[in-house]
Amino acid sequence: IFFKDLKGIKSLEEKVAEKLNIKKVIIAASSDDDKLLTLKELGKVGSDYLNQILLKESVIGVTGGSSVASVIDVFKKDKLDFSKCIVIPARGGLGNKAEFQANTLAEKLANKLGSSYKTLYTPDVLSKSTIDLLMSEPEIKETIDTLEKIDLLIFGIGNAETMSKRRSLNSEKIGIILNKGAVSEAFGYYFDKNGEIVHEMSTIGIKLSTFKKLGNLIAVAGGEEKVASIISICKLNSNLVLITDENVARKIINDN
Ligand code: G3H
Repeated sequence: IFFKDLKGIKSLEEKVAEKLNIKKVIIAASSDDDKLLTLKELGKVGSDYLNQILLKESVIGVTGGSSVASVIDVFKKDKLDFSKCIVIPARGGLGNKAEFQANTLAEKLANKLGSSYKTLYTPDVLSKSTIDLLMSEPEIKETIDTLEKIDLLIFGIGNAETMSKRRSLNSEKIGIILNKGAVSEAFGYYFDKNGEIVHEMSTIGIKLSTFKKLGNLIAVAGGEEKVASIISICKLNSNLVLITDENVARKIINDN
């Protein structure tokens, strides 16, 4: 697929980055009628960028979802020896399809890099007492401690309504979250349009305070249902690099 206006893409990228007040925006071509094709384009663009910025000893966090999966699917390392990198799932979660889970994606990326990886095989929703218990397990504690050392995070952004349904929350809970103005979801947190947290899933993974301090983070998110979600997440950390598609980029520019 092709860009509608190839010549304007670079300047569109700059305009969107400026409007969202983030480090960088990279735009992939959109297909108007084939979401999977758009996803594939996002993956290619994301994978190229990953190759540009990976360092020999990066500690890389990944979340689940089809967008991050699309990057890792096509990723092929094109330089350096990455054997000293570590890939780590940014949160637990066993509820979704295995092929899109953070654990699966961390292992897959590590295999492509020839690096080591860690896993976090914990359920999506846990009680406070179970979290405390799990955190005292040495293997889980080690993974959680490594999460604090992430120097690059690759993550997906979800539409709040879509994600609350995908995560099988009951309809009462979904109603509460949406009534609080949730428009986005990322790594188990729901945010409103101003990037304020409105709900936190009781799960094990990266803390919001850690996320806000990261210097390198790549969000992979396309499709028009995510326009408000993307705008919301970009308010959390201005070091963010956004990989999105052309239709979304144009909508962001036209958003008031
Ligand atoms: O955890 C999932 C993400 O927030 C969004 O998932 O890339 O499949 O839309 P997706």
